[in-house]
Amino acid sequence: MGFHYIFIFYLVLLLPLISSSYEASMADQAEFFPLMKNSLTGSFLNDWDDKPVCNYKGVICDQEGYVVKIDISGQGLFGHFPENVCSFVPRLRSLSFGYNKIHGDFPQSITNCSFLEQLNITHTNLTGTLPDLSPMKSLKLLDLSSNFFTGAFPMSFINLVNLEIVNFNENAGFDMWRLPENITKLVKLKSMILSTCKVSGTIPKSIGNMTSLVDLELSGNYLVGPVPREIGLLKNLQSLELYYNQLVGGIPEELGNLTELTDLDMSVNRLTGKLPESVCRLPKLQVLQLYNNSLTGEIPVVLENSTTLTMLSLYDNYLTGQVPRNLGRSSPLILIDLSENRLTGELPAEVCNGGKLLYFLALGNMFSGKLPESYGKCVSIIRFRVNCNRLEGNISESILGLPSVSIIDLSYNFLNGSITKSIGNARNLSELFLQNNRISGVVPREVSIAFNLVKIDLSNNLLFGPIPSEIGNLKKLNLLLLQGNQLTSSIPDSLSSLKSLNVLDLSRNLLTGGIPETLTDLLPNSMNFSNNLLSGAIPVSFIKGGELESFTGNTKLCVPVLPKSGNQHFPVCSETYSKKRINFLWVIGVSIAILFIGGIVFLKCNRETDVAEHEETWAFSYFSYNMKRFHHVSFNQHEIIKSMIDKNIVGHGGSGMVYKIDLSNGEVIAVKRFWSQNHKQKDEKKLMEKELKSEIETLGNIRHKNIIKLYCYLSSCNCNLLVYEYMPNGSLWDALHNGKCALDWPTRHQIAVGVAKGLAYLHHDLVPSIIHRDVKSTNILLDRNFQPKVADFGLAKVLNDSNTTIIAGTYGYIAPEYAYSSKATTKCDVYSFGVVLMELITGKKPVEAEFGENKNIIYWISKKVETKEGAVEILDKKLSGFFKDDMIKVLRIAILCTCRIATLRPSMNEVVQLLIQADPCRLDGIIGEKPAATPHRQFTAGKLRGVEVSSSKNERRAQAVVESRFSSLFILSTLINCC
Ligand SMILES: *[C@@H]1O[C@H](CO)[C@@H](O)[C@H](O)[C@H]1NC(C)=O
Ligand SMILES: *[C@@H]1O[C@H](CO)[C@@H](O)[C@H](O)[C@H]1NC(C)=O
Ligand SMILES: *[C@@H]1O[C@H](CO)[C@@H](O)[C@H](O)[C@H]1NC(C)=O
Repeated sequence: MGFHYIFIFYLVLLLPLISSSYEASMADQAEFFPLMKNSLTGSFLNDWDDKPVCNYKGVICDQEGYVVKIDISGQGLFGHFPENVCSFVPRLRSLSFGYNKIHGDFPQSITNCSFLEQLNITHTNLTGTLPDLSPMKSLKLLDLSSNFFTGAFPMSFINLVNLEIVNFNENAGFDMWRLPENITKLVKLKSMILSTCKVSGTIPKSIGNMTSLVDLELSGNYLVGPVPREIGLLKNLQSLELYYNQLVGGIPEELGNLTELTDLDMSVNRLTGKLPESVCRLPKLQVLQLYNNSLTGEIPVVLENSTTLTMLSLYDNYLTGQVPRNLGRSSPLILIDLSENRLTGELPAEVCNGGKLLYFLALGNMFSGKLPESYGKCVSIIRFRVNCNRLEGNISESILGLPSVSIIDLSYNFLNGSITKSIGNARNLSELFLQNNRISGVVPREVSIAFNLVKIDLSNNLLFGPIPSEIGNLKKLNLLLLQGNQLTSSIPDSLSSLKSLNVLDLSRNLLTGGIPETLTDLLPNSMNFSNNLLSGAIPVSFIKGGELESFTGNTKLCVPVLPKSGNQHFPVCSETYSKKRINFLWVIGVSIAILFIGGIVFLKCNRETDVAEHEETWAFSYFSYNMKRFHHVSFNQHEIIKSMIDKNIVGHGGSGMVYKIDLSNGEVIAVKRFWSQNHKQKDEKKLMEKELKSEIETLGNIRHKNIIKLYCYLSSCNCNLLVYEYMPNGSLWDALHNGKCALDWPTRHQIAVGVAKGLAYLHHDLVPSIIHRDVKSTNILLDRNFQPKVADFGLAKVLNDSNTTIIAGTYGYIAPEYAYSSKATTKCDVYSFGVVLMELITGKKPVEAEFGENKNIIYWISKKVETKEGAVEILDKKLSGFFKDDMIKVLRIAILCTCRIATLRPSMNEVVQLLIQADPCRLDGIIGEKPAATPHRQFTAGKLRGVEVSSSKNERRAQAVVESRFSSLFILSTLINCC
């Protein structure tokens, strides 16, 4: 009895205490949110105003009003996460603030949250070392992926025995560590994602005890030794990702016990032996990727019974024998890549049965027999490459006319028959490679209906008849190779409308007639008309352009004038052609007259300049200026001239001073003064005048948002002023190398695309096109929004004016062929642009001491990319690792642009396309990703195209889908070797 009383007595005493402690903890809890508002910024937090904490967005409370969950992930927040969250919010069970720009060290006090069950801090900017995680005993989910942590890997996570999901993917900053035997203490673990986080050593056998595992990912590490057969004990496993390691030995038979497995990827290792039949029998297997290993033996026939297989990538192994005849009969295949093995027999005919096939790649094997008829029904297929085999027979009409196909590569086989008219149905075809076969018949004019064609190679076949003149309709055509056939006809005039043509080879045919004068409008980087039956005069501009070589082996060709070189394969034309010669002389005469008149004017100016030379100060007002406007301008010359005082000087260009002038109307302009005064050398002066003229002629007439705007030109005899729009963010050089402003990767990418667009406009949209000739980061200016504008056209040269031999350009940016031939082509600009891309990627200058004596950035990069670590090392350390994959994509473009062989460089139009594909902000990027069970399987075509060299899990996966010779990390070095 008494006891009861005492109890009630105490209860009465305690009640107010209990409720007041409740109130106190509610108050504490409420205090934490202002702390967050203070240390973080972002519009999301505007919602957190005068209302109960439990009603805040991203906050969830239990029935008693205690906050149990805070999820502010992906809200564009910036700043620090406050310390001591659990002393304010004691019942917190789940905390997520990933996908925000949160920096600083890992908030150590989070480890005091002993009730916390979920901690998700993926994709933030956190740095520093991780503390002992052991106190977070209740943790079930720990996601620290994609951060910048450094130091020792937190082995203490092994003490978190309640863990079900752990993800440390993409933390390349840790020290190397090994998987300990006792990792098996994590008996509840379902998902163990320890990819790209510096795991070395072997995979412990004990892993076989972790039978709860559903997802085991250890890819992108430094694992060595064999794949333990004990993995076969993980009966719940659905996904096993071991790609990009250095694993050796065979694929264990025992993996065939993993009946739940859908996804098996052990690509890019050193695995040997056979592909076990047991694995090919797995009832749920969807993805089987084992490319880039050293597997031998045959592909087990049982694989053809699969009803689930979607992706099969076995390229670059030593597989032999036949491919299972009925592969794909009952499975919805999307990709098959069997390239670069030693496979024989016929191609599997049923791969398209599922109606989903996008990629069929079987190049570089020993396949024989005919192309299966059934391939003509593959309406979904995008890439079809079976080149370098021993295929024979004809190419069916339906294959050539496939509606979605973008690449057909059947080259280097023994195919015969003809090219059918159905090619006109291939509306998406951009590359057609049929070279080195035995194809006969005529080239159908319908080829011109396939208007997306960029590359056509029909060389070394048995084609006869005319070159269809309709081919001139293929406006995107970049490469046309017809050499080594028996084509008759003359060269169609219409070829001259192929404005994008870069490589043209018509050699070793039976072409007759003359060389159309109009062809000289085209300036492909390489052309070849040799060994035909052409006759008549070779157009003069080809001779002047040094192209005579391309005409050898045509005995009836002649030259209207003797080229200066003297080295003579061709006779001088007889009178029939002398009319043209007279014309030519007439042109020379007029030029001399112009020069003469120009000279007089020049001398006159010079004399007046000499007078001015003695004046130390510039008395502009004494001179009267002529003004030539190119844009609407709202200022008058007096205002400009008045403001040209030292205080306003912002730079010294190569040929004069640059002033920044704030006009009274609020506008800001830049004025460049070309002077002749301090340059007494006549040659130099002449060059400078040429530059000035070039700048005015080119800039005055073009309008493009990525080309600097020239408002007007003011001239007097002793001084010339150019008035431009003002670029507040200076040059790209200063931004990158003088630390004027930190440019993040999306901004750098935006700059790259802008410059590429500007140059593409100069090269491809103008007639005649313009070569800038001095593309470099100092000539790229940045406006308020960091949109780039190409500037300084002093050296730009209109393409068809070919009588200058001055080598212009800047050391470190000059294309090798230009340095020795002094023949500028658009490809020289592409090269220089490639160097600028390298600056953007690495943050380094084109020439730095660390590259070694006489070595430039191109050499440095080519050495570094020989290893995968090296490729990542060159990326600018100042940039977020978030964008590593995108940067590597751009690195690949940079390498292409700087190929030694000019013809292998892409055109500027192509560069624009490639860069757009590497856009870090594209929709299918990280942010838009759905957290699905297997988020890494994405089939957006944009992502699949192009070469993806990357380390993130998702990108790796996409990369596997890219055709074989372009898909390994080592491609960068391969690329360099190709160049
Ligand atoms: C796991 O084993 C390592 C030695 O291999 C030891 O240092 C560590 O303390 C062990 N961890 C746990 C949680 O048992
Ligand atoms: C994120 O971290 C990276 C690398 O440490 C850095 O370059 C980047 O500027 C950071 N971003 C923000 C928004 O702080
Ligand atoms: C962590 O949070 C992000 C963003 O909300 C989500 O995509 C991811 O799936 C979460 N991680 C885990 C392991 O659930």
